[in-house]
Amino acid sequence: MIPSIILTSKEQELQDLVVVITKFSKLPAGLFNAAEKKFMKEQVETLKHDVVSYNRMGYWVYLFFIREEQDSSKRLEACRKAGDKVAGFLNAQKSSRVAIFDAEGKSLEILAFAEGMALGSYQFLKYKKDKENINTLKEIEIYSKSLEESENNPFVPRPVSRVQLSAAHVPPPASHVPRPASLVPDLNILIQSVAHCRDLINEPNSYLTATVFSKEVEKMAHDSGAHVEVLNKQKIEALKMGGLLGVNQGSHEPPTFTVIEWKPADALNIKPVVLVGKGVVYDTGGMNIKPGDSMLNMKDDMSGAAAVASVVYAIARAKLPVYVVGLMPATDNRPGVQALVPGDIITMHNGMTVEVLNTDAEGRLILADALSYAKRYDPALVIDLATLTGAAVRAIGMFGAVAMHSKAPEELERLKKSGYDVYERLVEFPMWDEYGEQIKSDLADLKNLGPPEAGMITAGKFLEKFTDYPYIHLDIAGPAFIDKRSSYRGQGGTGFGVRLLFEFVRRMAEEELVSW
Ligand code: BES
Ligand code: MN
Ligand code: ZN
Repeated sequence: MIPSIILTSKEQELQDLVVVITKFSKLPAGLFNAAEKKFMKEQVETLKHDVVSYNRMGYWVYLFFIREEQDSSKRLEACRKAGDKVAGFLNAQKSSRVAIFDAEGKSLEILAFAEGMALGSYQFLKYKKDKENINTLKEIEIYSKSLEESENNPFVPRPVSRVQLSAAHVPPPASHVPRPASLVPDLNILIQSVAHCRDLINEPNSYLTATVFSKEVEKMAHDSGAHVEVLNKQKIEALKMGGLLGVNQGSHEPPTFTVIEWKPADALNIKPVVLVGKGVVYDTGGMNIKPGDSMLNMKDDMSGAAAVASVVYAIARAKLPVYVVGLMPATDNRPGVQALVPGDIITMHNGMTVEVLNTDAEGRLILADALSYAKRYDPALVIDLATLTGAAVRAIGMFGAVAMHSKAPEELERLKKSGYDVYERLVEFPMWDEYGEQIKSDLADLKNLGPPEAGMITAGKFLEKFTDYPYIHLDIAGPAFIDKRSSYRGQGGTGFGVRLLFEFVRRMAEEELVSW
């Protein structure tokens, strides 16, 4: 279980406490006696840490100093990391509750700190019999006048100028009332959705087959009020999804194609935002089998699909007034008597033919079918998330995702902005035509393998061929899964993409940017 965040107005009892301030002089009067103040001041001045701690009989007091000089995105990230650090101490001491005291009305920083605490306390324990070292933190209470005021304020302030994004501006329905500010409830929903996403990624293939994945998404839809439909192998055949079927050929398990839809009555958009996630529940490489240790973490190859399911789950639970659809093609990629072999030519959902030169470049095959399927929604924007290429990892590592766009320059700029704010950052790569030339086949319309250089770009170009709408491709192969614990991102599945897309969609709703 991940801790929940609770806004409280009760006076603090004796319990573990974190005081969040910008400088020592802002320490609220009455909280500490002169001796304590002197001790803490010495600690701050000599250690120069952003977190200092002080033990009172039976409980701990932490002081966290927000660094004022940084830009807001870096400042909030420092808060999340400090939250993770303090949560680590509290969990080590087996604390179950902590109170955070907002001494200076720093709502956003307080929320980021709590977010880091909660996400940093995540653990995947399903298969652990030994119940040692289990995180104990359950409740994170926030005592904040400024947050309380904003939660009680019934309406989110509307921005003065509205940005129009494309074609015809459709005014919001007259009955539309801005939704109440709900920062803390939304944050809890988001944190739980990230935890859910991490669980799905951390589940090994021995549990999480394509069918089990689709059942998990069905559960999430039922719990959140979203609509869900699972297309089985028969339907996938009827739809002629040759990419998904081709990749599945070597498997003993059938493929699935899961569609989750959130279409509230008060949706601000008419055309949906469609999210597409790569759901390769295990990638052995197929007949081009992955050598050595390179197969090791390939249970993570459904991280894109997990993020799509989890963000739609979050959007539905938060009841954001935005029409979104999630498409998740899922299968494992294995060698087998029936498996695709290099040189095979398959016909995709949109009728294009693809020469499969490497069965390990399978993600683009299943995504291509989903991207052409997306056209039936007449989408305003399609964003895919995929652990697509090792080239993306080599290019930028684990600290961000590779992004490319087609016909969606402004949308990508806004997504990048959300990326900095939630610290799921994006690096844009070009969709230049020359890369498209490199995946033309002599025998078929396309080949699924380009030259060794710029593999993440030729992969994106491949996908673009199956789109005709504003499109953003995110290659999350680097940040989706990490071997070594990295602050509140944890270890294993990180849930990358959930916070990014939730923030992007939340801003669409709040700023009424949805004019499609
Ligand atoms: N799932 C992998 C990409 C990947 C690599 C994800 C490392 C996470 C970490 C993908 O299906 C793959 O195998 N890509 C190949 C493509 C190549 C054969 C063109 C790659 O990047 O090596
Ligand atoms: Mn592969
Ligand atoms: Zn793969």
